[in-house]
Amino acid sequence: MNEERTLIIIKPDALQRNLLGEIVGRFEQKGLKIIGMKMIQLEDAILAEHYSHHVDKPFFASLKNFMKSSPVVVMALSGLNAISAVRLIVGPTKGYEADAGSIRGDLSLSGQTNIVHASDSSGSAEKEVARFFKSEELFDYKKIDFEFVYGEEERG
Ligand code: CDP
Ligand code: MG
Repeated sequence: MNEERTLIIIKPDALQRNLLGEIVGRFEQKGLKIIGMKMIQLEDAILAEHYSHHVDKPFFASLKNFMKSSPVVVMALSGLNAISAVRLIVGPTKGYEADAGSIRGDLSLSGQTNIVHASDSSGSAEKEVARFFKSEELFDYKKIDFEFVYGEEERG
């Protein structure tokens, strides 16, 4: 089974707009397994690392201010092809262009305050999980819905 891990950041707009439960629920309902979850305050250094591909962009200063404006909730999720599956649930960057049914399509009208971050590739996902979680903060446990979330051949 191509079990992948991916990183989610539930951004300050979601916290302020009382959407934490809604967002966690969507990932749970999909069948994804929560293997790590905590509330943290982001700071300049980790944001410069996490958004290193954007540090020279004109929006970087405002993105940083937004991401530091309240605590965030970080989650590590695992599941079959989880990286691309989660990006589909999240939707594209701009909330006003995202399909209805996706988190951003249903809950955001913005290209910045777009509710969640999700890792975009296998290269970035492992690095991002390691950036926000120590190994002892990630949990390997048996989930009782496993044999119904996946078919027999997928379970291996
Ligand atoms: O989050 P995603 O991978 O979909 O998009 P990104 O291109 O990697 O950009 C990272 C984040 O920067 C976005 O989610 C927005 O919050 C922010 N951003 C922004 O503030 N203004 C832009 N013009 C583009 C992105
Ligand atoms: Mg990105």
